[in-house]
Amino acid sequence: MTVVIESVSALRAQVKAWRADSLTVALVPTMGALHEGHISLTRAALERADRCVVSIFVNPRQFAPTEDLDKYPRQLSLDLDKLEQAGVHAAFTPGVDEVYPEGFATTISVGGPSAGLETDFRPTHFDGVATVVAKLLIQAAPDLAVFGEKDYQQLCVVKKLCRDLDLPVEIIGAPTVRDAEGLAMSSRNVYLSAAELDVAKKLNKILRKAATALEGGADEAAAMAAARQEILDAGFDMVDYVAARQIDTLASWQRDTNGRVLVAARLGKTRLIDNVGVTAR
Ligand code: PAF
Repeated sequence: MTVVIESVSALRAQVKAWRADSLTVALVPTMGALHEGHISLTRAALERADRCVVSIFVNPRQFAPTEDLDKYPRQLSLDLDKLEQAGVHAAFTPGVDEVYPEGFATTISVGGPSAGLETDFRPTHFDGVATVVAKLLIQAAPDLAVFGEKDYQQLCVVKKLCRDLDLPVEIIGAPTVRDAEGLAMSSRNVYLSAAELDVAKKLNKILRKAATALEGGADEAAAMAAARQEILDAGFDMVDYVAARQIDTLASWQRDTNGRVLVAARLGKTRLIDNVGVTAR
């Protein structure tokens, strides 16, 4: 049975009780609207730890005032059913005041991999993510935490946060779950109309083609420009970025190190992100 926990003190008491029984603990941070991608993160957690906590908290600090905080999908009772079915032991569902009590005044800003890409378009986003993830990791004190590779820059930022602050937790990156045509599962896919979904499904194929071109020796700038044009030709309205980077540091791509091609593109009112690996030659 999934225990629902709303306060930090109750979360700490539950984790303490597990630890007293020598059980290991995994945390899967989410903003709810759970889909198969999130459930795959819980599977990765349960393969590695005795107990799994999923946090569900739509974190206001990672949304800019112009973004979709108010309309971000919220479906707690459906989420709890899914967690129950997945065998998750606890859902941590704090309110905004529990996470950010009156007078809260601290922001964590991670350098390194947070530079560029998302930050060029969402300048305060990773400060909000790093602040809430640091709090969740301190509150739950898990042995490990699982994040999706779908938000690849976020995963790199979280790893850097934990390394730099010596947080005693192992960060696991879990592969993106996709539909049969390669569309990455995302809570924001619910915003897409049927016609937009058809366009969205082309994104991953274009990225994979760009990654294959780089692996085959193509010029980086030419491969990225071709990918950008193909994304627009597929029906996207705007490409925020499509870029090759080194894994982990997200520094400029080098042909002799493993890399990642990352994209953010806009389709109507929805902004989609995705990424694929590039193997070193
Ligand atoms: O990836 C997400 O859903 C969020 O950014 C996270 C990690 C739960 C922090 O709010």
